[in-house]
Amino acid sequence: MRTRTSITVSAPRRGRRARRALAGGACVAALLALGGCRQDMHQAPRYDPLEASDFFADGRASRGLVAGTIARGQLRDDPALSTGKQGATFVSEMPVEVTRDLLLRGRDRFDVYCAPCHARTGDGNGMIVQRGMKQPPSYHIDRLRAQPVGYFYDVITNGFGAMQDYSAQLPPHDRWAVVAYLRVLQLSRHADAADLPAEDLARLQGGEAAGAPHGGSSTHE
Ligand code: HEC
Repeated sequence: MRTRTSITVSAPRRGRRARRALAGGACVAALLALGGCRQDMHQAPRYDPLEASDFFADGRASRGLVAGTIARGQLRDDPALSTGKQGATFVSEMPVEVTRDLLLRGRDRFDVYCAPCHARTGDGNGMIVQRGMKQPPSYHIDRLRAQPVGYFYDVITNGFGAMQDYSAQLPPHDRWAVVAYLRVLQLSRHADAADLPAEDLARLQGGEAAGAPHGGSSTHE
């Protein structure tokens, strides 16, 4: 009895094991077959950058740029726009139109690429600085408020002292957007109420007579 019982119990087990082995084998075979397909693609003939080649007379696989051609988006025909300088002088006028969209884009890029060190307020006490990076000067100091826009574009393009450049992260138009927003930050602490349009000035003074001259008395003090 015991022998027969043991046979009836172990028989299905053997069957299951065999099925499993078969399925496993099929998987391995499928993987090998697929692997074979991929190998073909991996071994397609190709050159690594700057590898030697005897196909061309000069022995180089990489070809130089065709004379007189410019890659798409790489045209640099306006020095003010692409360097922030006119001759040797930094430009003081924005070479792109300053719109609300440009400022919003500038704020977005600034918060990603500059705020970690310069802080979202521009006072130079960002999180990385709080963790030990050299503290940059505040954008609100007189020396930096007096700098022309081209100067900031140049700092972003070429870096400054301990600060790396951000030319790879920010294409020229984004750099100008960040510069425009940097001016917004500076203005946020040094705006003169007299520069406000009359209606905004009135709102600032708590709804008092629109067009009241700057410094006029206010009943809300
Ligand atoms: C990783 C930290 C870090 C980031 C990110 C960073 N900066 Fe700076 N920045 C510095 C430091 C540090 C200095 C001061 C460098 C020195 O004096 O050696 C500095 C200096 C500056 C200055 C002042 C130059 C001067 O004349 O004193 C400006 C303007 C500036 N950065 C703009 C930017 C802008 C715009 C961005 C974003 C595109 C940015 N920085 C991103 C660390 C950073």
